Amino acid sequence: MMAPAAAPAIISGFGLTVRGIARVAATASRSAAVSVRLIDSFSKELVDDIFAHALKKQTGVSLKYMLDFGQNPIERQMLLSAQFLHKELPVRLAHRVAELENLPYGLSAKKPILQVRDWYVESFRDLRSFPPVRDIGDELKFTEMLRHVYRRHANAVPVMAKGVSELREELRARQQLTELPEIHQFLDGFYLSRIGIRILIGQHIALHEPPKTNHIGLISTQCSPVLVAQDAINDARSICMREYGDAPEVSVYGTPDFTFPYVPSHLHHMLFELVKNSLRAVQDRFAESDDPAPPIRLVVAEGGEDVTLKVSDEGGGIPRSGLANIWTYLYSTAKSPVDPRSVDEADSGPVVLAGYGYGLPISRLYARYFGGDLQIISMEGYGTDAYLHLNRLGTSQEPLP
Ligand SMILES: Nc1ncnc2c1ncn2[C@@H]1O[C@H](COP(=O)(O)OP(=O)(O)OP(=O)(O)O)[C@@H](O)[C@H]1O
Ligand SMILES: [Mg+2]
Repeated sequence: MMAPAAAPAIISGFGLTVRGIARVAATASRSAAVSVRLIDSFSKELVDDIFAHALKKQTGVSLKYMLDFGQNPIERQMLLSAQFLHKELPVRLAHRVAELENLPYGLSAKKPILQVRDWYVESFRDLRSFPPVRDIGDELKFTEMLRHVYRRHANAVPVMAKGVSELREELRARQQLTELPEIHQFLDGFYLSRIGIRILIGQHIALHEPPKTNHIGLISTQCSPVLVAQDAINDARSICMREYGDAPEVSVYGTPDFTFPYVPSHLHHMLFELVKNSLRAVQDRFAESDDPAPPIRLVVAEGGEDVTLKVSDEGGGIPRSGLANIWTYLYSTAKSPVDPRSVDEADSGPVVLAGYGYGLPISRLYARYFGGDLQIISMEGYGTDAYLHLNRLGTSQEPLP
């Protein structure tokens, strides 16, 4: 199967842009009947190799390991990094293929899931058929191949989401249970693994780009949470403005001078999601009110172990009965911005403030990936506090599903 064209800019909750889903729907309706089992589509040799790799242990790395490459990595370090990825990526990909092949409720047979599985198999094959990386010439070719792998998987998130939402609709129509805890557990592991694979590849590729000040690949050695927060707030408020014609204020408490090593794009993603949620809650609650909307407060706390960011709003909170659902995929109280059954490619629209139900679970995975966490505390009738803990030592080992 062919990989789709480059993905649209990823801004909304977990990158589910309307355009992304529209393209997925169009791709699915165009594709011919798909074989369901791996062995129907790929050689026995390849399938055996995948399952042999799925039995191997994955090797985690730490933020510190990545930082050790330094700002100007020497050839030997590039070579070591490529050799590590050459060995490690097939193992991680094979684990996901094996899972995708064995999902409950018939999810494995859904076309979008098969599409994602095939991307994983193709990338596994590209890596396994690549000869040993011995010198810097091999290393450059290897990196080129990695760029291709990275692009191939760009759209995996909306495609997976489409498969899961198809299943949910189907079960709902048959009035069967729709909680699906095993599926949520699988998705948590799958998306966490995806974050890991993409940061490893992204980091290796970034080491080949011209060095950026205070950056080691994707990691900023001097990431300022206040500055990242200001960017995320601007982005979220402009979406709110567009949807509501207005946006509550957000006040930031903390100094821009405080910095620590982190991946700014991850931090931006998490804060953007939290601020979007708060803006929506406050805006909805105060839209009809004569009182001015109270500002959202974003506090940055510099601890010895953790950097904690708190986003507090007075948007009315979340009922306790709803709290268990906020971490599940596709749970949203917002009107769904797209009906996947009716979209077509011409239908592409702007990014929306809420509606996919991916914002919180994915943000928590980003936090956990580097040893942090995300907690939501709600006071129904008043507001919500989101605590984003980021591990500042960077020595914690990657969590591997
Ligand atoms: N600050 C908040 N105040 C009130 N409710 C909230 C808040 N944050 C989250 N929620 C509730 O949790 C649900 C899930 O949030 P989540 O961010 O995961 O998805 P979403 O905002 O609906 O869609 P998106 O994937 O676009 O972010 C929301 O629909 C909302 O009901
Ligand atoms: Mg959200």
